[in-house]
Amino acid sequence: QVASLADRYEGKFDIGAAVEPHQLEGRQAKILKHHYNSLVAENAMKPISLQPREGEWNWEGADKIVEFARKHDMELRFHTLVWHSQVPQWFFLDENGNQMVNETNSEKREQNKQLLLERMQTHIKTVVERYKDDVTSWDVVNEVIADSGALRNSPWYRITGTDYIKVAFETARKYAGDDAKLYINDYNTEVPSKRDGLFRLVEDMLKQGVPIDGVGHQAHIQIGWPSLEDTQASFDKFSGLGLDNQVTELDISLYGWPPNNAYPTYEEIPADLYEAQAERFDQIFKLYEGLGADLSSVTFWGIADNHTWLDDRARQYSGGVGVDAPFVFDQDYRVKPSFWRIID
Ligand code: XIL
Repeated sequence: QVASLADRYEGKFDIGAAVEPHQLEGRQAKILKHHYNSLVAENAMKPISLQPREGEWNWEGADKIVEFARKHDMELRFHTLVWHSQVPQWFFLDENGNQMVNETNSEKREQNKQLLLERMQTHIKTVVERYKDDVTSWDVVNEVIADSGALRNSPWYRITGTDYIKVAFETARKYAGDDAKLYINDYNTEVPSKRDGLFRLVEDMLKQGVPIDGVGHQAHIQIGWPSLEDTQASFDKFSGLGLDNQVTELDISLYGWPPNNAYPTYEEIPADLYEAQAERFDQIFKLYEGLGADLSSVTFWGIADNHTWLDDRARQYSGGVGVDAPFVFDQDYRVKPSFWRIID
């Protein structure tokens, strides 16, 4: 039995994995229990999974993940209460079935806004009341900033302005209680324009008394990008506001963007690419350790290379045949060079 990742980083930060309910069995369950002390749902807790139609709740998959975390004494991150993607369209339809965003009458626009905020509050209240004893960290809103640093022009934003962000955090706090940790989660938080836009929003929200406890950095990164300097600067900037940081969706793609050079099979991936990935894992985990109390959790967006959302993109950009391999366990659950570099 190899040493455990969770033990290695004990007292520094949690080690988490994103899972689908069907992954909680067999080899994957064994790896989870040994190497990880935190879980998050890859899809099962998104609005479209939990409330596909208004008032129709589907808890099955989410409950399974909660059960597993409970049974094995793992932390649980909740992903995600509010997002522009994987959200059912009924949220944004008025009572006549029309798209709220198209409304031009100002009185009706205000009514729509209130209706949307009410639906969001009902969603948050229902979910939080069910899981508040199990979840320690909540992604309250996900990806609300565009790469430019401007606010993302989503239906949420077009209908409510930034009120949805404020109300989402306030509602989460109200039902989850003071001990719950509430996060604003996003990708490319290392990119200066985006980092600064996120910072301006968070600073402004904190001034208004909005209960934000921390920033979730997705960290869908590559071997050569982003730089360690930009990564460090982003953590430092948010800790400077007194906020916690969590790495919420770590994967290190073997490829640049777009991944149009993806290898068609695992066998064809050269050993030196895995070595370069291992070096990158080593550097990034050293950076994480150096953050001390400013970083409380590091979650991988999967367990092993056989199941990663990056495969969809590798395939899409490489003529339907590419694979990616972004984790420290390979497609057969064996440890990779990357594993040895972060355990030593
Ligand atoms: C991804 C899942 O991994 C996929 O299975 C799904 O098809 C799409 O969503 N940022 C997020 C995650 O916040 O929820 C996304 O997860 C990956 C990008």
